[in-house]
Amino acid sequence: MHTTDSLDRFMADVRAGLNASPKHLSPEYFYDALGSHLFEAICQLPWYPLTRAERALLERHAEAIVAPFGAGASIVELGCGSGEKLALLAAPLCKRVPRLDVHLVDVSETALDLSRRTLGRLPRVETSAHRARYEEGLSRATARRAIDARGGDGAVLVLFLGSNIGNLAPAAAAAFLAALRASLRAGDGLLLGADLVKPAADLVLAYDDPLGVTSAFNKNLLARMNRELGATFDLRSFDHRAAWNAQDSRVEMHLVSRRRQSIRVDALDLEVAFKEGESIWTESSYKYEPDDVVRMGERAGFRCFKQWIEPIGRFSTTLLLAEERAGR
Ligand code: AVJ
Repeated sequence: MHTTDSLDRFMADVRAGLNASPKHLSPEYFYDALGSHLFEAICQLPWYPLTRAERALLERHAEAIVAPFGAGASIVELGCGSGEKLALLAAPLCKRVPRLDVHLVDVSETALDLSRRTLGRLPRVETSAHRARYEEGLSRATARRAIDARGGDGAVLVLFLGSNIGNLAPAAAAAFLAALRASLRAGDGLLLGADLVKPAADLVLAYDDPLGVTSAFNKNLLARMNRELGATFDLRSFDHRAAWNAQDSRVEMHLVSRRRQSIRVDALDLEVAFKEGESIWTESSYKYEPDDVVRMGERAGFRCFKQWIEPIGRFSTTLLLAEERAGR
């Protein structure tokens, strides 16, 4: 459910997105309770290799990834999902420190709950959950370090996993990483998970699976507008579509109206007309070459400590360290 703020934002974004041309909605709205569970199901699909590939990398390299971090270190995960991958990294770290602060940042209460439960199994881990958007949550987490009496020396390791960065268009991704760098200190880390370019057929299958789970995940956005905003979407009158846009290196997801129709959104006192074949663009998932990820980090003021690539499923994990900046 919503806080008033988040409901206001949802309403404003739905109004703007459905009035725009082309119609669009932000993928952050996929993650209500049902949407979060559908996403967890997607991660288990044989056609969606991202999660397994990243987990394999973190299982294999957890020690090396946390090696630059010691006593006083804390971990902040942006978009925490189930917390399972975070636990893989926290496990070796909490073995060698007296206490490990972990901050979970997610807009989804369900994701925060799942993560809290997963981390509860580890000793000496103090978990704080922040139900917030990334920037807000990160600044709350790093503010904690500044006022913490046990020495503000501990480095922060920020996790941005699962190729969540892929939802951001290049300019937005650059701005996001720069803002992230600005709220960190030299020596802090950013572990960035990014899915890599693969054959088009593999990419389309990952986002249009034969079980229809991704279709349900996408259409749940319509169901959510019906539930929360009193909209009148007939879910059966929309098709799920996923397409690879090689030019822009992204998979695009759409909800395509099968017919000409008019939809009412009661809470917004809004009437929206759809032509046959007209779509709502609900998500872009950018795919990268390994060097793109390193360059993206460098341009934002990080240096690459190390990059790990999983060949099966082609996925990258890059540990970026915040650089000392000239003039500071
Ligand atoms: C959570 C944004 C990384 O883009 O692969 C999965 C979401 N959408 N299937 C992705 C998603 C459709 C996912 N991210």
